[in-house]
Amino acid sequence: MKKIFEAHIISNECAVDDVYKLTVGFDGRLEARPGQFVQLRLPSNEFTLRRPLGIAALDGVRLTMFYRLIGRGTKFLATVGSGTKIDLIAPLGNGFNVSDGEKILLVGGGVGLAPLLFSARSFNDVDVLIGGKTASEAELWSREFNGAVDEMFITTDDGSAGVKGFVSDLLPEVLSKKNYDAVLVCGPPIMMKNVAALVLEKNIRCEVSMEGRMACGLGACLSCSLETVDGRRKVCKDGPIFDARKIIW
Ligand SMILES: Cc1cc2nc3c(=O)[nH]c(=O)nc-3n(C[C@H](O)[C@H](O)[C@H](O)COP(=O)(O)OP(=O)(O)OC[C@H]3O[C@@H](n4cnc5c(N)ncnc54)[C@H](O)[C@@H]3O)c2cc1C
Ligand code: FES
Repeated sequence: MKKIFEAHIISNECAVDDVYKLTVGFDGRLEARPGQFVQLRLPSNEFTLRRPLGIAALDGVRLTMFYRLIGRGTKFLATVGSGTKIDLIAPLGNGFNVSDGEKILLVGGGVGLAPLLFSARSFNDVDVLIGGKTASEAELWSREFNGAVDEMFITTDDGSAGVKGFVSDLLPEVLSKKNYDAVLVCGPPIMMKNVAALVLEKNIRCEVSMEGRMACGLGACLSCSLETVDGRRKVCKDGPIFDARKIIW
């Protein structure tokens, strides 16, 4: 059940380029499903709205997230040191729909790999296709996924590691190697759209983690609404995980 946790920052460090890794600890126990997210209250009166971040790792009393520096909030967060108190509402959203014994491929681009990390650590039979801009970004994610997946496939935009190009360039080859039951995707919208098209063409189940500008994060304000084939849906409450067939890209 979702609730407010009073947490303290254990570490908050640059992981690579403009991506930071944040680990918080709290009293009380948080249980969450891969794909769910938290709403962080930034520790300053300047920010009224919470910021949504995906769960990258969770061991009940410690939670890890990764965030890219985007605007005022994330830039401020990067300046906050360990020991600082911070509160968060969790767990939010629905999470991925995976059953025991399914063979899963995770496909992520950039910081979209963060929530997929929690999936890699939670499910048994998992491979990952990592998309990074550069070798240093790909290295970060291959280090984080190491030991949590059976096989890793890597692409970089500039070809400095793995295959040169986008995840959608390597995906057809990866899909032809093994019989996946489902592909879970998180990253920029254009990447998710292209990946979903390739996966659905093969009649494989595809779940995508959608983003929407969020205010309340609790289903009360409509700011995160998303057009789907079933009508308008709220990313924070009906998602962020959606069946890719339902999305109007
Ligand atoms: C379900 C979900 C999970 C997310 N998980 C991650 C993650 O694991 N790592 C990560 O780096 N980013 C993640 N994001 C995006 C992240 O929330 C935004 O980058 C962040 O809120 C930007 O805040 P800002 O103050 O730096 O930017 P600003 O642009 O200054 O933000 C202004 C306002 O818009 C909202 N906003 C801006 N961009 C987004 C966005 N893309 N999605 C939702 N609200 C936004 C902010 O929360 C804030 O209220 C996630 C978004 C959603 C919806
Ligand atoms: S953020 Fe308010 S309804 Fe989703």
